[in-house]
Order: sequence, then C-alpha cells, then structure tokens
Amino acid sequence: MITTVTLNPAIDRAYVINNFQPNTRYMVDDVKVSAGGKGLNVARVAAMLGEKVNATGLLGGVTGKFVQEELDKLNISTSFVWINEATRVFTAIVDPVNNTETFLSEKGPAVTKKELNAFVKEFVKTLKYSEIMIASGSVPPGLPKTIYGDMVKIARDNNVKMIIDACGSYLVEAIKAKPFMIKPNLHELKELVGYDLDSEYKIVYESKYICKQGIEVVAISLGDKGAIFTTKDGVYKICAPKISAVNTVGCGDAFVAGCAVALFRKRDLPDAFKLAVAAGTANAMERQIGHIDPEIVEKFYQETKLKRLD
Ligand SMILES: Nc1ncnc2c1ncn2[C@@H]1O[C@H](COP(=O)(O)OP(=O)(O)OP(=O)(O)O)[C@@H](O)[C@H]1O
Ligand SMILES: [Mg+2]
Repeated sequence: MITTVTLNPAIDRAYVINNFQPNTRYMVDDVKVSAGGKGLNVARVAAMLGEKVNATGLLGGVTGKFVQEELDKLNISTSFVWINEATRVFTAIVDPVNNTETFLSEKGPAVTKKELNAFVKEFVKTLKYSEIMIASGSVPPGLPKTIYGDMVKIARDNNVKMIIDACGSYLVEAIKAKPFMIKPNLHELKELVGYDLDSEYKIVYESKYICKQGIEVVAISLGDKGAIFTTKDGVYKICAPKISAVNTVGCGDAFVAGCAVALFRKRDLPDAFKLAVAAGTANAMERQIGHIDPEIVEKFYQETKLKRLD
C-alpha cells in the first residue's frame, strides 16, 4: 500500500471575487470548499491513478471531520490521529479581473506531546502494511524540526521507502536521516543550499552532493521546465510536455504521487521519473488542486523522453 502522511491538513476555501479590494465588504456566492494539504493531494492523485492509498496524519475539530468525510467519499482509507485543536483553514481569494491570488494560510493547531506520541504509534503501525510512505507539507506549530527525520529513521528500520516533500529546517533534518527520495522545487533547493542556482550545472552539482549523503533519488522539479533527477547511477532530465496551464498549485504533489505509484508497481526508476512528470503536468491542466485525468497522464507518459545529463 502507498501511505501519505499529512501532519497539517486543511480545509481549502477558494473565493472568486472580481476586482478584489481591501476595506470592502463582499457578498460572496462563489465559494469552493475542499480537503487540502499536500499529503492529501498526493493521496488523491495516487488513488486517481488506480492505487489503493491510506492517508494518515493529524485531524481535529469540525474542520477535521469535514476532511475525513471528503476522504471517505474518495474511497481513500484513513488512519488519522484525532487531536484537541481544530484542523486549519486555508483561504484563497481569486480575482479574475486583476488576475491576482491572495492566500491566507493559518499555521495550524497546537499539538500536545501526548497527541504526538499517539501519532508516532499510529505511524509505526501503518508502516507494517505500507511499501511506500510519503510525508509532505507544512508541520503544525510546536512539533520538533526533526519530525520528518525521525519518521524517515523508523521507516528505514522497517524497510519502507520514504519520500519527503518538505522545506526549510524540516527538509534539512529529513536529509540527515537519509530518506529514499526528496523532491524540492528549485526555490526550495536554493533555500537549502543558500545561493542562487542559475544554471543546470549548479542544480546537478548540488543534487549530486545531496545524493552522496545517502539519498537514492534527488528530484528537483522545475515547473513548466520539467525536472532533474539524480541517483547514484546517473542524472536524468525530463522536459515537461508543453501545455496551456490552468492551475499549477499541487503539481509537485501530483508529481510525487506519479513517482510513488510507479515505484509501488515495481517499475524502474527512469519509468517512475516519467510518470512523475506526466502526473505533475496533468495536474496543471485541471482547475482543481491535486486532480488528474489518468488518460492524459498516460498520454504524457508515452510522450515524455528521458535525457541523461552525465
Ligand atoms: N506550467 C506547467 N506546464 C507544464 N508542466 C508543469 C507546469 N507546472 C508544473 N508542471 C509539472 O509539474 C511538476 C512539478 O511542478 P513544480 O515544480 O511547480 O512543483 P511544486 O513547486 O513543488 O508545486 P506544489 O508545491 O504547488 O505542488 C513539473 O516537474 C512539471 O512536470
Ligand atoms: Mg511543492
């Protein structure tokens, strides 16, 4: 089974407001509400690609109940740990007139030590029936910076491949624990290495350096340019299919889902890389975040070509 971990899920609320201005009261009739959080996007896309998925993490309050119900509708099995404080709300205000997007991202609920311990227990249990584990996205306040790194160590002890899609100190600590794969985008890689990466050479140089620390796949996603994958056996580049993008939020999550599905199907790494880019690009063609059309993914998968950079 593929399992996703979402420590800080959210209810996504998207308002469409023409000519949005501050100091104004709006009566809004166009509101879209959905279950969000990067790990949940990964779970949804992996399920849409036809795999059985389990989602775990932390949920709380009525907002948490909503997220749980949305996942039930999608036939995604869940094993969330329930916490006292409520799951956060992520608000997006889209203005089609001025072509702007305004985001209000709540930090998330405070998690107690007891709740964290309950989660770790659940995580260990979940590992027993998972071949691939993916931990993505932000972490609610108060949890240790080593949380993803700690999970990686436990997963490795249980022979489970772990993919980490995180940033900042959570990513730094996760790398120290040697996950199977990391997937920063270019911005996150720049933040990690601390300087501007203005050439392919520099991206490959830094990816090789990280890879040598014991990580099997360093995947750097490059938005509409595709991705560069570094493994101990070589460096590969895949250009993304040319499309007219509708919504690129969640492309990285779809990318991770595509890769995880291929790995779960025991396909080789170059094949997994192709499915990652295909799923990422398919997500950019959908209005909804973390959605793909499997037929489009298959078409892109057939079209994408792997180029060796070494
Ligand atoms: N405009 C685009 N056109 C074609 N493909 C795209 C576009 N944007 C993203 N993709 C595809 O999605 C993949 C991941 O995109 P990106 O690098 O934007 O991830 P990300 O920044 O981590 O996204 P997020 O964190 O919002 O999920 C790319 O490798 C590419 O295949
Ligand atoms: Mg991302």
